[in-house]
Amino acid sequence: LESLPSEIGSTSDLLYLYNGFWYAPEDLEGILAAQQHFQAQDTDIILVTTPKSGTTWLKSLVFSITNRKQYTVSDQIHPLLTTNPHGIVPFIEQIYYDNTNPDVSHIPSPRLFATHVSYTMLPESIKTTKCRIIYLCRNPKDIFVSMRHFGAKIISPTNPACQLIPVEEAFNKFCRGVTWFGPFWEQALEYCELSLENPDKVLFLKYEDLKGDIISQLKKIAVHLGCPFSLKEETEGVIDGIARMCSFEHLSNLEVNKVTGVRSLWMVDNKDFFRKGEVGDWKNHLTDSMVEQIDQVVEQKLHCSGLTFK
Ligand code: A3P
Repeated sequence: LESLPSEIGSTSDLLYLYNGFWYAPEDLEGILAAQQHFQAQDTDIILVTTPKSGTTWLKSLVFSITNRKQYTVSDQIHPLLTTNPHGIVPFIEQIYYDNTNPDVSHIPSPRLFATHVSYTMLPESIKTTKCRIIYLCRNPKDIFVSMRHFGAKIISPTNPACQLIPVEEAFNKFCRGVTWFGPFWEQALEYCELSLENPDKVLFLKYEDLKGDIISQLKKIAVHLGCPFSLKEETEGVIDGIARMCSFEHLSNLEVNKVTGVRSLWMVDNKDFFRKGEVGDWKNHLTDSMVEQIDQVVEQKLHCSGLTFK
């Protein structure tokens, strides 16, 4: 295993190269355990993202769509009002790291799981059953900026060995693919191709499209999951309600996502999953030469695929 300090973290924060992708050790342990023990069901829904591409948002949207009969968005008992989306939809790599063989059979159907791993690393049963996959990607420039801010928040301020590495060094690593679950483009390409080959299995979404027209994207997701919105639901404002419930403005202002010290995921505060929630914030952070560098990488790696970012 080759190892390097992570691009967000400190010298004590190593990433390991395994089968062409970079992992934090606990994520790798979790996913290897899941490969052995996770048994997918036909009705499962697997949400795949790279970190910082809108995972929190996708979890809340898909949970709200699939549970809309049980919890209407005007309901005061809607789980999103009191629980961060990461406390509702678990990461496969996290639950199989915490316990190498957890009992997930009791979770009511459809079970929702998330992961940041490439298709090749998914547990085999996800590929062989009829379970659905939704992949969300985002402009890598915004991912880098989001990741950098996230790193600054989660880094331990009291540990002198734990310092953010200089931004230029972090950026170079990101462009070389040395980032959590990176290289970004390898993963995005894999799922992009799969969504073309087998659209019933994989729905490929972009953060920028969700921001641009959330209603049409919600309809697309519901169709992919086999639970399209009825005309009645549409006229009664169910789709608008889900969009509002899961909006950045709404979720980030809920008490459970605002206060310090409330965690749904490892050592990360719920509030750290919300920053700006915008498209194009990279313009405020990347220098011209950084833009040139990443544009070249994207052009070189993605130009054949037709995958572009607004
Ligand atoms: P920014 O740092 O650019 O603001 P992830 O959930 O994969 O960790 O991604 C986090 C990014 O998604 C952050 O981006 C965060 O602000 C944004 N985000 C979180 N919830 C969102 C929502 N409901 N709508 C839009 N963006 C959201």
